[in-house]
Amino acid sequence: MKQTVKMTFATLAAAACWTLAQPVLAQQEPVPMRGSDVETVDQAPTVKKYLGGKPGGQDMVARTFREQPPVIPHAVENFDEITLGENQCLTCHGADTYKQKKAPKIGDSHFRDREGKLLPAASAARHNCTQCHVPQVDAPPLVGNDFKGDIIAGKGGKSSKKN
Ligand code: HEC
Ligand code: HEC
Repeated sequence: MKQTVKMTFATLAAAACWTLAQPVLAQQEPVPMRGSDVETVDQAPTVKKYLGGKPGGQDMVARTFREQPPVIPHAVENFDEITLGENQCLTCHGADTYKQKKAPKIGDSHFRDREGKLLPAASAARHNCTQCHVPQVDAPPLVGNDFKGDIIAGKGGKSSKKN
């Protein structure tokens, strides 16, 4: 009997020590990742105009990493509707039109299939140009980042204008 009491007391003492040893958890307000309260209505961002004007008037934008689809340095209004039968981009950038239009020809990789085999004409997989090539807007980045470009000499920028 005495033994049991002693044991119970020891257990209680151990439990009390354990409880006291726990740090008191401060009540913390959750910090919303988007910076505002859940109930706050999102403000729609202002619609910005694409940079660049009529093709032919601007320098190409320097590329910042290898295999980057170059960004479109001119406005795309009126020729960004790419359909099965129509592709305005190709009327200037196509293999048979680019010289006359003084536009850069579509990339060499656009004439290969996915196994790397050379094709007689541009690959259909490249038909939807704006899936990879995008025009630019002058807007601050949505989230900060410390990406450092790896600019390839001779690609993009003023000096490489090839036509
Ligand atoms: C009226 C002719 C014309 C049309 C149509 C046109 N472009 Fe261009 N594009 C040019 C010219 C000229 C340049 C050279 C830069 C400049 O002078 O604007 C160029 C530059 C580019 C470049 C930059 C290439 C590089 O190496 O940096 C890309 C990418 C491009 N265009 C994609 C497109 C896409 C995609 C479309 C269709 C949505 C399109 N272009 C429609 C004439 C055209
Ligand atoms: C699947 C992505 C993809 C699609 C779709 C695509 N491109 Fe490209 N494009 C690229 C990449 C990546 C490059 C970089 C050079 C290369 O790989 O040939 C490039 C390069 C270019 C260049 C610069 C060529 C040079 O000599 O460096 C032009 C101009 C261009 N593309 C126009 C177009 C047009 C016009 C279309 C639609 C008919 C198109 N691209 C479709 C990814 C794409």
